[in-house]
Amino acid sequence: MAEAILQVRDLYKHYPLTRGVLFKKQVGAVRAVDGVDFDLHEGETLGIVGESGCGKSTVAKMLVNLERPTSGSILYKGEDITTLSQRALRSVRRNIQMVFQDPYTSLNPRMTVGDIIGEPFDIHPEVAPKGDRRRKVQELLDVVGLNPEYVNRYPHQFSGGQRQRIGIARGLALKPEVIVADEPVSALDVSVQAQVVNLLEQLQNEFKLSYVFIAHDLSIVRHISDRVGVMYLGRIVEIGTGTQIYDHPTHPYTQALLSAVPVPDPEAREHRERIILTGDVPSPANIPSGCRFRTRCWKAQERCELEVPELAVPAVFRLTDSPAKHDSACHFAEEKHVVPAEGETEGETGDGTEGGTWGGGGT
Ligand SMILES: Nc1ncnc2c1ncn2[C@@H]1O[C@H](COP(=O)(O)OP(=O)(O)OP(=O)(O)O)[C@@H](O)[C@H]1O
Ligand code: SF4
Ligand SMILES: [Mg+2]
Repeated sequence: MAEAILQVRDLYKHYPLTRGVLFKKQVGAVRAVDGVDFDLHEGETLGIVGESGCGKSTVAKMLVNLERPTSGSILYKGEDITTLSQRALRSVRRNIQMVFQDPYTSLNPRMTVGDIIGEPFDIHPEVAPKGDRRRKVQELLDVVGLNPEYVNRYPHQFSGGQRQRIGIARGLALKPEVIVADEPVSALDVSVQAQVVNLLEQLQNEFKLSYVFIAHDLSIVRHISDRVGVMYLGRIVEIGTGTQIYDHPTHPYTQALLSAVPVPDPEAREHRERIILTGDVPSPANIPSGCRFRTRCWKAQERCELEVPELAVPAVFRLTDSPAKHDSACHFAEEKHVVPAEGETEGETGDGTEGGTWGGGGT
């Protein structure tokens, strides 16, 4: 396996909850990210899925240093970027860039496309000396499939898909090694989503990029990811290859989410089991003891209330060669096949009528 370019260890982000106007008193905390661990290997795409509010964007922001962790570490090529001096951080940040969800609001409407894409060069002039900027920006436009002559146009003169291409070009400007894409296609028409996903795949091959790809659409995540992590209430509860997660899930939460993926084939639809989750997602300010999923889990037992399940290969699979042998944070992990094989599903997840309640992607 390729080396880990990012190693996230025991990552926490708690936002204090305060009361009082003059004398603010902390009365609790929103545990947005509550103990996340994962590796991102060179050249791979790690998908992260989970319901709205489970902490995906907060993880993304910490990876690109838009938020400081409450505790934990993020190692980039072995170096902890959460403790670096501002100066040292500058060069590391160059290598980890973000592509945002909403191409309509993430681009400054008063700046030309050339200025938007070239803005990162202000902070890192070593990448593109002043006289060379226009040419570099035009190159980037070409790389993302836009006409280099559009350099003086404004964001409103582009379609949603084109704007996301501009966002991607900006993300590429500093020649990063890692791109953190937070719901990069969720705001786009379904017909345009595939084009942008294809572009991201093509750029990955061309520039040897590693991706953290966050989305709530399970089909897109499966398509683009080498491995997938499933988040629930601030933690990853199951992680593995696409085949392991989609065809051999062992965590009840993953199984419930997958059972809500629409199946176009009526016969396959009739034969698949839907798992209807009861109860609301608990507040991240009040996370249940033991297993955080226990208030909605149909398999919960006393042990689940008392003991936090660790994210590891469950004992029952440890000595097997089964694809179910992957990390899953459940005391009673067992394999359950809930979706038809790859290729038989398509479209968006979460019709909101039954089964899981996928977030609408709004951050
Ligand atoms: N600055 C903040 N202050 C307080 N709470 C916050 C802050 N930012 C996020 N949160 C809370 O942290 C939790 C995780 O939010 P986050 O945006 O990371 O979720 P998400 O998984 O990206 O959701 P979505 O799918 O809707 O984008 C939510 O409960 C959110 O309300
Ligand atoms: S540990 Fe218990 S509550 Fe948690 S997912 Fe497993 S069976 Fe359900
Ligand atoms: Mg989000």
